[in-house]
Parts: sequence; C-alpha cells; structure tokens
Amino acid sequence: MTDRYANSRRLFERATRSIAAGVNSGIRKMEQPVPLYFQRGTGSRVWDVDGNEYIDFQIGQGALLYGHAPAGMAEAIAAQARLGTHWAAQSELEIEVAERLQAMIPSAELVRLNNSATEAVLSALRLARGHTGRPLILKFEGHYHGWADEGLVGFAPPPDKWGTDEAPARLHPSQGVIPEVLEKFVVARWNDPDHLRRRVAEFKGQIAAIIFEPVLCNTGCMEPVPGMIETIRELCDREGMLMIADETITGFRFGPGGAQKHFGFVPDLTVLGKAVGGGVPFAALVGRQAAMRKIIDGSVVHAGTLNGNPLCLAASKWCLDSIASLGERHPREVTALGSQMMAGLRVLADRHGIPLRPQGPGLVFHTVMLKPGAAEGTVRDYRDYVRRHDATRWTHLRRCLLDDGVRAIERGLWFISLAHRQADVAEALQKAERSFARHASEWKPV
Ligand SMILES: Cc1ncc(COP(=O)(O)O)c(C=O)c1O
Repeated sequence: MTDRYANSRRLFERATRSIAAGVNSGIRKMEQPVPLYFQRGTGSRVWDVDGNEYIDFQIGQGALLYGHAPAGMAEAIAAQARLGTHWAAQSELEIEVAERLQAMIPSAELVRLNNSATEAVLSALRLARGHTGRPLILKFEGHYHGWADEGLVGFAPPPDKWGTDEAPARLHPSQGVIPEVLEKFVVARWNDPDHLRRRVAEFKGQIAAIIFEPVLCNTGCMEPVPGMIETIRELCDREGMLMIADETITGFRFGPGGAQKHFGFVPDLTVLGKAVGGGVPFAALVGRQAAMRKIIDGSVVHAGTLNGNPLCLAASKWCLDSIASLGERHPREVTALGSQMMAGLRVLADRHGIPLRPQGPGLVFHTVMLKPGAAEGTVRDYRDYVRRHDATRWTHLRRCLLDDGVRAIERGLWFISLAHRQADVAEALQKAERSFARHASEWKPV
C-alpha cells in the first residue's frame, strides 16, 4: 500500500536533525500519523507536500478566518513590503488599525499592539497587577492563555493532581517555570458562578483580575452558562478587579464586536490575536481608558521591537476592512454553515453507531466523543470533559477523516472560515461518510 504521507515523513525526519524535536511549536508534534508539511492553500482548501488536498477546518488554528491566501491580503502586504518592512517607530497605518479596532469593539477605548496573543496576555496581567496593586490573578481550569509561565497555570491538570472541586490545583504542565508564579494564581472551575463567588471571597482584596475565554475553545467548546459572564462582571465591579476577556479565538469570529458584543458585556481589557492578523504575527491589547492608565503614564512597561510592524499592520487593516464590509452577513453565514456541519456529523455518527456529540455555537465547535457509559448532555467544564470525552477514540476518527481529506484540529475543534461554502460542507460530509464507516469497522475499545 502506498504511504499517502511519505513526503511529510521524509521532511519530518530531516527536520529532526536541524529543528529541536522537528517542530517549532510543541503541540504540532502530536499530529497523527506524522506532523504534516504544507505547500499551498487557497480559500477553504490546503495541499500538503504529498499532493493531498484537504477541506481545512483547522484553518491556521482559527487565525485564517478569511481562508487561505485570501485575494487582496497578499497585495496589501506586498505593497507595504515595497515601502519598507519595519520601522520600529510610528506610522499612520498603526493609527488606522487602532481606529478600526475602536470602531468595531465597544470596550476598545485605547489600543496597544503586540506580535502574539501570549505577549498581549502577559501585558494584560502585568497591567492589572500594576493598576490594582494586588498580586493574584483568577483564571479558569481548562482555559488557555498562551504558553508562558503565567498563561498555562491550571490549564490541563491530570485528574490525580487536580485538587478538590472547591479548590482546583494551580499546576503548570511545563518544567522550568518560576515556582512563585503558580502561587500568584487562583484557579476556579468554569461555568459555576456560585463556586466563583466563593473563590473570590476566599481571596478577598488580593485578586487583581479575572481572565477568561468568553467561549472556552481550548478544552472542548463550552459556551458560558447563563449568569457566568454577568457574575464575573459583577464581582469585578464590586471587588475592584479588572475583567480581562481573552478573545484570541472569539474576536472577529463572533462578528466585528467579538464575543463581548455577542453576549453583551463590557470587559476592562481584551486580548485579540489570530483573526486580527489573519495569519500574520499580530495581536492587540485593547481596553478602557481607565484600565490603560498605567501604560499611558509609563509606570507599567509595555514594549517590543516588532510591535506595530508595518507588514502585520497592512494585513490587519485588510482583515478588519473585510469584516466590516460583510455587515450583517458575519457571523450569520459562518454560524449557519457550522450548524449544518455539526448536524451532518451527528447524523453520520448515529448512522454508524459512533457516540460523537458536536458541541458549540457553530462558527466554532468541538466533536465530543463520549466514553463508554458516559452521560449525554452538554459538557460544561474541564473536569466534565476529561470524565466524558474519549480522546483516544476521537484521535482514531480524526485520522480516518484526515485520510479522506477532511482536516479538523487534533484535539477535536473545528473552525469555519469566511471562505467555506455550502459545497465545502456537503463535500466534507460526503467524505466523512467513508471515514465514519472505516472508524466504526476498525475501532476496538482499548
Ligand atoms: C484563548 C487564547 N489565548 C492566547 C493564545 C496564545 O496565542 P499565541 O499562540 O498567538 O501566542 C491562544 C492560542 O491558541 C488562545 O487560544
């Protein structure tokens, strides 16, 4: 049998001799059967070095909201590159981008730019501590805020170490982290407003900020239960803490105003990444004027040689104008396509006796694979997810889908882009029929 990933295997083997572990982001090593190497993409499609074509729902981990190589973006970047690739100084372009962000996001009274959301999160947390003079940050189990020491506390603790339901452990998955950083966090469970109230009361007067993904997309895909976001806002107002919305994934995906417009809340600070640059290294910290005060007076340091890089600004301006030009069509169209995809996957799952339960708002969703005997119903938080999602079985189905040309994210997340069309969904479901049949016949519970 021919190996459809032979060229990727060959390149990966070569890469391990020059690149540590063969990849430039640890998570990429997890891809089965081998980390894939890509050659080109257009719209909803991407081609690997073996010539395999995929309908892409990984879509640059969500950054490619506009699809692969969208018409117009390359020209915008190239036009800027001919004028200059880097100033490490001011340009009118950065004001144009900041003004667009202000116009689209109600809470974006002021803007600061970065090159990754990881950095923007670090800026937000430093600013919150500086602003309040308090040492602690409250974050939620399973929420991901970048790969730095501060972004990953309490992200995915193993069940034997995750602590009680009332006091989730503050663990970090990496060695080499400054140990004291862990003590500067309070971890709470997502989607339990009463538990959150108790956590905040326990550390009264010590918490600078609550940071959260408005829709948890880094562990399953979990929308906030009614009252969750309202409770965060209420507690932040009452206790003098800053509310930090990490909209790295939800920003622009949920429409021009992001999840905050969609759910109707106003955070003090917001982190934007991914779709704000459409695939270039670009991120922003935006927020209310009062919350930005310490950056304005310079007492909280925020810096970076490549901040406001003109190539990234040109791309971002193009992205923001694209979103604005869609008006009411966005997020209506991506939501409708995603909902169709979810419904179609569920039909296939039932037809083949596979306990797959797509969950999410459509424009992004997760395919929960129920463990044998696991209860039905919406997965609400990290612990619930670990208890009910069969990651090993999902990995097998994901591999079957990949072999048939449908590419979802390794952990089970699916993104719809503005380049996906009805025909893509229909074709993906047609291909998936074969993948589901193969999975059903091959899968043996371990
Ligand atoms: C919610 C959230 N915050 C922060 C980050 C970090 O973004 P970056 O990898 O661009 O630094 C991510 C990345 O996936 C994310 O999903």
